[in-house]
Amino acid sequence: MTKKRLSIFASGSGSNAEKFFEHFKNHPQIEIVSVFTNNKSAGVIERADRFGIQHHVYNRTYWETGEQIIKILKEEEVDFIVLAGFMLLIPEKLVKEFSDKIFNIHPALLPKFGGQGMYGSNVHKAVKAAGETESGLTIHFVNEHYDEGKIIFQEKCQLEPTDSAEDIATKVLKLEHKNYPKVVEQEVLKSI
Ligand code: GRF
Repeated sequence: MTKKRLSIFASGSGSNAEKFFEHFKNHPQIEIVSVFTNNKSAGVIERADRFGIQHHVYNRTYWETGEQIIKILKEEEVDFIVLAGFMLLIPEKLVKEFSDKIFNIHPALLPKFGGQGMYGSNVHKAVKAAGETESGLTIHFVNEHYDEGKIIFQEKCQLEPTDSAEDIATKVLKLEHKNYPKVVEQEVLKSI
């Protein structure tokens, strides 16, 4: 049986990406075939190298139409895309080509604390400023709008009044690492 082929898009450290590399290392039905990044200094590159996974660096210009990216994804016979801390909007053409086949993770309980500008530490600072008693993670499919695609999975964590934005980030990241590869695995297996 041919395995389902996943590509990971990441702009930063890539700690979630590494969880995917580990989780799918010897998986019988799913494999990670490549990493795309828009940032030549992204930590995800070193992590991909360590796992022997090829990476592609394309700066912002290439993400406007996405044509070159789509061409490579087709050559690599990629079935699903996983966004793991990817900072640019996915071009419409790519979203259409991979309808319900692009996963994203958002470090808060959407629809709260989502949308343009809500990324990285901004999210956790906003959660803190709003005095929330809980936060969590959301895994969803990607459509043409930031953080608005169909929600697949959410999990909450409790917050203490003394938690700083960094503490909230740590709690949420732990949940992300625990859940993201497993949730994607379940969804991909449904397509087999
Ligand atoms: C995660 O919190 C993810 O939810 C957000 O960006 C962060 C990426 O962290 N979109 P890492 O690069 O996987 O370490």
